[in-house]
Amino acid sequence: MSPLLKSRYPEACGSFQVFAKEWSVSLQRQRSFCSRTLGGLGDKTVLVLGCGFGDDAVAWFPHRPGRVIGVDIVNYQRCWDEAIAKFSNGCTSITFLQRDLVGEDWSFIGQEGVDVIFSYAVLEHISDLSQMARRAFDALKPGGLFVATYGPLWYGPNGDHTFPLAEDDYYNHLMLDDTEYDRYIDRTMSEWKHHEHGCEGPFLLERGYFSFLRPEEYLRIFVEAGYEICNSHLNISTAAERYFDKHPERLPYLKERYGLNTLDLYANGSVIILRKS
Ligand SMILES: C[S@@+](CC[C@H](N)C(=O)[O-])C[C@H]1O[C@@H](n2cnc3c(N)ncnc32)[C@H](O)[C@@H]1O
Repeated sequence: MSPLLKSRYPEACGSFQVFAKEWSVSLQRQRSFCSRTLGGLGDKTVLVLGCGFGDDAVAWFPHRPGRVIGVDIVNYQRCWDEAIAKFSNGCTSITFLQRDLVGEDWSFIGQEGVDVIFSYAVLEHISDLSQMARRAFDALKPGGLFVATYGPLWYGPNGDHTFPLAEDDYYNHLMLDDTEYDRYIDRTMSEWKHHEHGCEGPFLLERGYFSFLRPEEYLRIFVEAGYEICNSHLNISTAAERYFDKHPERLPYLKERYGLNTLDLYANGSVIILRKS
């Protein structure tokens, strides 16, 4: 962590290995890393959690894994069929399944296990991450990788995934009382309704698909589940900096109200690379 960031976030004492502003590790690089680390994916199985419309799953095809399994709690069969028809290359077998990664068991994986578990923008929606982390650990073969990019995080800007146009609304989910927040959501919902689906704020909010975890808690859960952390990256939001520069009194208020530290409110996303020894 740079001295400048360290002075601004003194309580960030080290669980995350990399802190940065508005930077991430591209999904393409993450997939290449998995392929390189495992010596190619030709005979490997990749499990994609919360695959949504399926883009996340077919994006593995250029790496020619033996098998890809995409899982989502919502059935996007039409999109999945289209993705298979458009991107199949004859090298990789692909299966899409509608499953609740928390509410159901993971028997769909079978005894043989998987080599890579991958997710994008999903962990922040898992209501019982400890349970999911343990199931994923059991599903991974020894030496297997768990790679996840997640966020916006609940206590950061836009943590409720309403994607407000005005930055002043970025912390409404933490600032407003219940009645005011319901009013705000009613307004927001009417703007979203015409294209609502499982990957978007209103759908996720209505069903309560949020983990409500602080950045450090994600890491703790994975360590407790038995994973080795190869890399952990926390992104600090410049929108959060602008917000609290403009409303400095709100920072101590929110810290006190939710028992948070500064970083919890400034962080908006994370990339983790974990390994099962
Ligand atoms: C923000 S979307 C990301 C979708 C996809 N990864 C992408 O980037 O386009 C989060 C996804 O997680 C799925 N999801 C949430 N909770 C889930 C659960 N318990 N089991 C399986 N999928 C879940 C949602 O249905 C949604 O498709």
